[in-house]
Amino acid sequence: MKLGVNIDHIAVLREARRINDPDPVDALSIAKRAGADQITIHLREDRRHINDDDAKKIIELSHLPVNMECSTDDEIIDIICSLKPHRATLVPEKREEVTTEGGLDVIKYFDKISDVVKKLKDNEIDVSLFIDPDFEIIAACVDTEADMIELHTGKYANIYAMLYSNLKYTHNSIKDLELSRAELRDKLSMAIGDIENSAIYANKAGLLVAAGHGLNYQNVESIVDISSIVELNIGQSIIARSIWVGLENAIKEMVQLIKR
Ligand code: PXP
Repeated sequence: MKLGVNIDHIAVLREARRINDPDPVDALSIAKRAGADQITIHLREDRRHINDDDAKKIIELSHLPVNMECSTDDEIIDIICSLKPHRATLVPEKREEVTTEGGLDVIKYFDKISDVVKKLKDNEIDVSLFIDPDFEIIAACVDTEADMIELHTGKYANIYAMLYSNLKYTHNSIKDLELSRAELRDKLSMAIGDIENSAIYANKAGLLVAAGHGLNYQNVESIVDISSIVELNIGQSIIARSIWVGLENAIKEMVQLIKR
């Protein structure tokens, strides 16, 4: 299984002071040395962390393939087409959200997404669609002619956190906060089952399958066990751990867990 390291959070820290330190570009050689397979960045419409200049430099200087997450906004897609990363991952984007909440509604926005997939592929950029684990959405992804999907693991990660870290602050619904441990355990196996069955279904339909969002050193194991998933994109937990052990060690520890 491959590891894409999402380095947006390095730019989040820089933007907290609006200066030029730390520079996400400095993570490129460290990620390669630590055994990562890909650099992932998100050029958000509001440029709250990675900006156009970062994206340009990262694509120019990275020895690892660069996966750029982005919305389907016309201006953003034009920038992606001119930057030519290895891959674009289309994600839903809302300005007020803390992070990407939920997957793309490929059924509702089928025409727009198909047009964007075609434009990116005409520019020789591979395309992945970030979606919730759902058979109907996956079937629509196949029709867009995207190369790949990334399954949103946020729901799984939230239930895991409630069960094992006793985390009350989650992005889950209020109803979930009332659940007993047994009910949470059932929900967790259902969430893993949905991810696994979706990955198998997508593979059979000819799509490569990645997964990501909310994955960390504890909850990643059950996702690593799903053989139809070929890649994980992980950011928050790796950058958080790098504060204590350094970025190279934080990436190495994750590489060890997912390449066992
Ligand atoms: N994959 C996608 C499509 C994302 O939007 C994000 C968050 O930017 C991630 C993976 C990484 O999520 P996390 O930072 O929670 O590991």
